[in-house]
Amino acid sequence: MAAFSVRMTWDFRVFSTLMSILFLLLERASFTYSAQSDVDYLRAIKNSLEDPSNYLKSSWNFNNNTEGFICEFYGVDCWKPDENRVLNLRLSGIGLKGEFPLSVAGCSSLTGLDLSYNEIYGKIPNNISRILGFMTSLDLSSNQLSEKIPVDLANCTYLNVLKLDNNQLTG
Ligand SMILES: *[C@@H]1O[C@H](CO)[C@@H](O)[C@H](O)[C@H]1NC(C)=O
Ligand SMILES: *[C@@H]1O[C@H](CO)[C@@H](O)[C@H](O)[C@H]1NC(C)=O
Ligand SMILES: *[C@@H]1O[C@H](CO)[C@@H](O)[C@H](O)[C@H]1NC(C)=O
Repeated sequence: MAAFSVRMTWDFRVFSTLMSILFLLLERASFTYSAQSDVDYLRAIKNSLEDPSNYLKSSWNFNNNTEGFICEFYGVDCWKPDENRVLNLRLSGIGLKGEFPLSVAGCSSLTGLDLSYNEIYGKIPNNISRILGFMTSLDLSSNQLSEKIPVDLANCTYLNVLKLDNNQLTG
């Protein structure tokens, strides 16, 4: 009987240890998954924009695996300093040139995007509400955006700060 209960306890310990390891691994896996996507999408944003003043080229260096390394990047605010999950992108007035970076859609925890005073041209995407997700603040003022302001902007239900002045937009 004594031997039996010792065995039970031991089995239970092994079992609970294995379960804890499994949970840790699962947590780690989902963590790295979401983190990895923000890293990839920042890389895509960097690649989609011309950066003549080298702000991104000199600061957005992706040769690093430390969790939270993107939080040190120029203009990147994270939810937590040791987690690769972007809260805000503040890239105002650094001469960025190109079309609206569709890749911001991939940073699913992004709440604010400031691309004001750059040279963003072309139109605001027609599916802007899907790109912005839960974004609360969008500043695209003082760029070279043109064409009609998409009706879909009205679908961005969480947006409470929107600046589009100083562009060539209509509608
Ligand atoms: C990687 O990022 C961490 C956190 O920002 C930093 O402390 C470290 O110096 C970086 N390593 C390299 C090789 O850049
Ligand atoms: C925006 O909302 C309208 C009305 O609900 C809907 O018809 C339209 O498909 C939405 N646009 C997008 C891009 O989801
Ligand atoms: C928005 O539309 C563009 C082109 O029309 C497409 O490439 C992109 O994947 C779309 N983004 C989302 C989040 O639906």
